[in-house]
Amino acid sequence: MCSLTLKKDPNLLVGIEGSDDAGIYRLTDDIALIQTLDFFTPIVDDPFDFGRIAAANALSDVYAMGGRPLTAMNIVCFPIKDMDKSILSSILQGGLEIIHQAGAVMVGGHSVEDPELKYGLSVTGIVHPKKFLTNAGAKPGDLLILTKPLGTGILATALKASELSKNAALHATEQMATLNKDAAEVMSEVGVSACTDITGFGLLGHCLEMAKASYVGIRIDTQKVPIIPEVKTFAAMGLIPGGSYANQKFYLKDLWIDSNVDSILLDILFDPQTSGGLLISVPKNKALALVQNLKKRNVLSANIIGSIENKTPGTVRCY
Ligand code: CO
Ligand code: CO
Ligand code: CO
Repeated sequence: MCSLTLKKDPNLLVGIEGSDDAGIYRLTDDIALIQTLDFFTPIVDDPFDFGRIAAANALSDVYAMGGRPLTAMNIVCFPIKDMDKSILSSILQGGLEIIHQAGAVMVGGHSVEDPELKYGLSVTGIVHPKKFLTNAGAKPGDLLILTKPLGTGILATALKASELSKNAALHATEQMATLNKDAAEVMSEVGVSACTDITGFGLLGHCLEMAKASYVGIRIDTQKVPIIPEVKTFAAMGLIPGGSYANQKFYLKDLWIDSNVDSILLDILFDPQTSGGLLISVPKNKALALVQNLKKRNVLSANIIGSIENKTPGTVRCY
């Protein structure tokens, strides 16, 4: 993004160059640190739910690298003059609930006064220095698995336009507050080639990042991509976040789209996700076991959505 002059360090296993989910730094032959941070403005009305979602989202980058979170610190921007302090304590309570669900501990944080409320976490985790996952390990012949359905950006847009039913809002909230912990544990048990989590670039943006980093082509079977039920209706109404169009514009030149993939579906495939699922590249002979084990652990939307190809590296083709 900005051209920084970086110092070389043999223990820095993953730095900022590869647009990966988190940094990884080797401490010993058996332990490497995973470090990441994420914070944003509220995307749901309830402060407790906002806290849960922000925490699940921040923790996700540790899971996407195949690691285990240990500690978390709160990042808070709060309009203390205009907003009741009880709102802040609900946000922090929500965050804490998810941090504890992750098996991590809260060790501190920092807050500043800001006219616009923001919350998130800095998370530290660990992983074996030879066993972490990046988006650069996808191999031709692998199959691609997505663990959560798409559409949270579109549902958040519908919520702002007061178009969302109570039921749909609840569904979206629970999905975003769900940790990628179970998915990551199953993934480590089965053994996979590459992983990333789906966030701001949308499914196809993150697929393209994986295709470039792994120097492979990716085929997506769009009919197999899990989508939250209500999302297609809202997308057809034009309730698409600006980020989806920005993603399409940015990534379009490396995409090939079959004529039966319509523009509404494309809007969904580029919808920026908050606390989205894991995108996993797995050897073909392990793919079925991975999906079955994910479902056993209640990752019910997990599905095979495409494959890694030998041709046209750095591109994605949608059928
Ligand atoms: Co990420
Ligand atoms: Co992140
Ligand atoms: Co990663």
